[in-house]
Amino acid sequence: MLRIGSRDCNLVGLPRRPSGTPLFIGPRVRYAHLVTLPLLEQLSAPPPRASLGDFPSPTEDHPALAASLGLEQLVVKRDDLNGTPFGGNKLRALEWLLPAAGPVVVSMGGYGSTWCAALAATAAERGQRASVALFPQPWSAPVAGVLSWTLAAGHVVLASSRWTFPMAVAHAWAAARRKGPVSWIPAGGATPLAILGSVNAALEFAGQMDAAGSRPEAIVVPLGSGGTSAGLLVGAWLAGWDVEICAVRVTDPWVANRWRVLTLAERTLRLLRRYGLDVRPGSARLRVVGEYLGDGYGHPTPDALRSVALAAAEGIALEVTYGAKAFSALARLAASFRRICFWHTFDRRLVSGPGGEHPLLREARAYAESLWPHQKST
Ligand SMILES: Cc1ncc(COP(=O)(O)O)c(C=O)c1O
Repeated sequence: MLRIGSRDCNLVGLPRRPSGTPLFIGPRVRYAHLVTLPLLEQLSAPPPRASLGDFPSPTEDHPALAASLGLEQLVVKRDDLNGTPFGGNKLRALEWLLPAAGPVVVSMGGYGSTWCAALAATAAERGQRASVALFPQPWSAPVAGVLSWTLAAGHVVLASSRWTFPMAVAHAWAAARRKGPVSWIPAGGATPLAILGSVNAALEFAGQMDAAGSRPEAIVVPLGSGGTSAGLLVGAWLAGWDVEICAVRVTDPWVANRWRVLTLAERTLRLLRRYGLDVRPGSARLRVVGEYLGDGYGHPTPDALRSVALAAAEGIALEVTYGAKAFSALARLAASFRRICFWHTFDRRLVSGPGGEHPLLREARAYAESLWPHQKST
């Protein structure tokens, strides 16, 4: 069954020393400085970009957590805090995607897709409109919060199961066509243009770490549609950084896999060449970590639930779909690396929603709980 419900750039160089940083806040260390869009400075003919985020996102050192995981250093890149009313990795992609899209954008994701929430919210803010088809996933407070944001800002078609999902996509497309010229953006916004946002994020982070004195040996990031990992890899090549991008699979291997990330990275290199920047693969490498997915996208695992508790004790709010699964890999990766960055992508502000309860929220919960009753999750 289906239901239809309805800054301009600061051009500065890389690497660059901060003005008067690092800033020390409480027991952790935050490094903040003025490098906001290092990629733009390197493009001779950049594509149009909308200013949606607030960069650079903060970077924190967590010595106690590092010690408990057997690491010398654990840096958390707070990309969950890169925007208002909520941030996250997808905001960086949308800065490049939305100016290139038409008035109505169609995409898809799970009920708790932060991609769809960010797309709907930022498109509405710019006078564009998003129509999205959503498939069910296990219910939890973060899923409810994210879905509330999507429902508040976009046109949503809920599929009651994976079987009805293709129909939901067709309905989302048809509804969009009635509103004007339609642009299709694939799930997760994984296109080379979108990936420019993550390339810039890697350069931004390299600059912050240079200012702090040393760059981590590995970056641990959730792997979904692959755009974030591909962008970090390309950005690391561009920054001449010998780092391993440890992409922890949070969805099915036919979506989240090595081939896909490397293909996206290769296509992004081609796009950069078109904009006047010739980047070659360097010493940065990709490692796909597949052992923490459990039963699938959005399904809690014992490891993820433990990670939520462990990180919460240090003030890091994780949820089980993305961050907690990536975080679960840290203890094992500590055998290979001494200094690791955890790339934090999910903004806890999503969980409380924008306020008000949309009628489709109850419907979505009923679908999800009929498929996965009594799931323990956060
Ligand atoms: C919060 C969050 N973190 C990480 C990811 C994974 O990023 P990517 O899809 O670019 O691999 C996603 C994907 O939707 C996400 O929403």
